[in-house]
Amino acid sequence: MVILIIQVGVSILSLDYEDVSVIDQALMRASTANSVHFDVMDGKFVKEKSFDHEFVAKVQSNLKKVVHLMVKQPEKVVDKYIKAGADTIIFHVEATRSPKKLIEHLKKKEVRIGIALNPDTPVNKIEKLIPEVDMVLVMTVKPGKGAQKMIKAPLKKVKSIRKKYPMKDIAVDGGINAENAHEAIEAGANILVSGSYVFGSDDPKLAIDLLRNA
Ligand code: DX5
Ligand code: ZN
Repeated sequence: MVILIIQVGVSILSLDYEDVSVIDQALMRASTANSVHFDVMDGKFVKEKSFDHEFVAKVQSNLKKVVHLMVKQPEKVVDKYIKAGADTIIFHVEATRSPKKLIEHLKKKEVRIGIALNPDTPVNKIEKLIPEVDMVLVMTVKPGKGAQKMIKAPLKKVKSIRKKYPMKDIAVDGGINAENAHEAIEAGANILVSGSYVFGSDDPKLAIDLLRNA
C-alpha cells in the first residue's frame, strides 16, 4: 500500500486585493501550510472577479504558489502567472478547448500542472489527460465563492482516480474543514485546499494540523 503525505494548501480568494500586506500577514499565521492556493476568478468562467497576476507576484511568502485559474481561456494568461512565481498552474478542463495544447505549453515552461474538475464534470472528460499532469483538483463546491458547504458526491471521483493512479497528487477544494477532511482523505485525496476554515480559525496553524491529521 502506498502512503501519501497529506498536504494542506491555504486558499486566498480575497476581493480586498488592494492591500497585499493583509494577505502577507494572514499567510504568516498559516506558515506551516504546504502551499498557498490563489483563487483567480475572471468574472466570466465564474461570476466573481478576484485578483490578477500582479497581486500574486506581490505576495511575500515562502510557501509554494499554486494558482487555481477559474478563468475562461486560461491559455491566454498562464505565462503571466508563471512570471508571477507560480510553482503550479491549475486550469479547468471546462474552460479551454485545447487542454492538450495547454499541457504541452506548461510542460515546456517547467511548471507543475494541475487540471481541475467542477463538481458535475465526470472523470471521463480528463481520462486521457491525467497521465500528463501532476495533479488533479476535484472541486467539492461550485467554483466562484469561498465558505460554501462541501458537496460530497465528487469524492467518488477522487476514489476512482486514486484507484488508477496510486501516486498522483489529488487535491480537493471547497468547504474542507476538520470535520469532513477525513472523508476526502479516505477517498484518496492527499492535498486539502482550505480557505475559510483555516483563516476563520483563531489558530490557523492548529487548524492546519487538524486537517493534516484528520
Ligand atoms: C472556490 C475556490 C476554493 C475555495 C476554498 O471557488 O476554488 O479554493 O474558495 O475556500 P473554502 O475553504 O472557504 O471553501
Ligand atoms: Zn480553489
